[in-house]
Amino acid sequence: MKRINFLFVFVLAFALILSACSSSGGSDKGTANKGNDKDSNSTSKEVTIVWAHGKDTTGADQKAVEAFEKAHPNIHVKVQEMPNDTGQQHDAYVTAFNAKSSSIDVINMDVIWPAEFAQAGYTLPLDRFIQQDNVDLSQYNQGALSAAQFNGKQWAMPLYVDAGLLFYRKDIVKEPPKTWDELIADAKKYQGKNGTKYGIVFQAKQYEGLVCNAVEYVTGYGGKFIDKDNNVVVNSPETIKGLNKMKEIATSKFVPDNITTFTEPETETAFIEGQAVFARNWPYLWASSNDKEKSKVAGKVGVAPLPSGDNGSASALGGWMMGINKYSKHPKEAWEFVKFMTGPEGEKIQAIAGGRAPVINSLYQDEEVLNANPFFKEKGFQDAIANATSRPVAPNYQEISNIIQIHVSKLLAGQESSEQAVANMEKEMKAAQK
Ligand code: GLC
Repeated sequence: MKRINFLFVFVLAFALILSACSSSGGSDKGTANKGNDKDSNSTSKEVTIVWAHGKDTTGADQKAVEAFEKAHPNIHVKVQEMPNDTGQQHDAYVTAFNAKSSSIDVINMDVIWPAEFAQAGYTLPLDRFIQQDNVDLSQYNQGALSAAQFNGKQWAMPLYVDAGLLFYRKDIVKEPPKTWDELIADAKKYQGKNGTKYGIVFQAKQYEGLVCNAVEYVTGYGGKFIDKDNNVVVNSPETIKGLNKMKEIATSKFVPDNITTFTEPETETAFIEGQAVFARNWPYLWASSNDKEKSKVAGKVGVAPLPSGDNGSASALGGWMMGINKYSKHPKEAWEFVKFMTGPEGEKIQAIAGGRAPVINSLYQDEEVLNANPFFKEKGFQDAIANATSRPVAPNYQEISNIIQIHVSKLLAGQESSEQAVANMEKEMKAAQK
């Protein structure tokens, strides 16, 4: 009797394990194929993965997806366009992941999210895939790579690096300004030349891009918000000086009246429409403003490091990564796609068609990449990328960012002085650190 029971339990357990394996594999494939199985051979089953990211104005993503699908005929990539504003995009992912949704497989992640997403367990650690496929991480930009590490694991793969740059009209400006004061003088002098309406355009709306711009002014004048040991150090004469310069420019007569509604797309539009002498934006504006089909200033664009304050020139470090939803039903296929996009082939397509700064170091020696982006060769650009200033790295970064956004916006709107703004930020940031 005892023996029969044992045998029965054993057989039952074995059957359960088998059925669990086949049902997870089976339902996985079933949902993936939505009835479009070509045959019963599992290796030729077609899977559609969903890739969520913000709007791409360069067309590079589409090109990269086409190349991927050509190389992987059984994996289709469906793009889900997310809000372009990184804060809104972040909130949409948080809602989906908190609901354990599997509707998205791969997401683009801003450099400021990995710590939070890792702590919340939203994305899959990629170490196992990386090892299994022998991805050589030593070829990657180490700063970009480490921005996706948390608790000793790799939570995403870097896709491209961003650093704030100064774009200018070569047909108007001979030498780009070296300091913010020279920029102010040039913006006043050249506003109106060759059909322009504005001296400079940049991101002054209350959102994440405002934080990046504020970091650049503040760091350029020797200030800081939070130091690397997480101490709140915002209340300093240097931070005040940087913020005052930002306010002087944002409230000048050479920026659009509605500059506090400007994000990257408004900046891009004004510049490619020929309305602005200078624009502060990320590297992609090079590809977009030189695209003859949509830009009125193609061939007339120069690019330079951002002007210096008392402490030199500072660019905010930005950039994006790719992560896999922990609840994805297709982690293997999702990884194939991430590996392609962040590998040499995907990176090259994005650099050429999208002006994105690659995360694989050898691509900065690639002739085709350099022909498409001549400024990648320049020391000013390489220094901007190498020395770019990170925003505070913390799981509660969104809270810190909101505090900066609120008080810098009040400063630009004349509702707080810089002294009040830094004192309020200090108080609120300290409370948020507890
Ligand atoms: C760019 C940067 C990103 C930053 C965002 C702000 O997309 O890559 O890091 O947060 O701009 O708007």
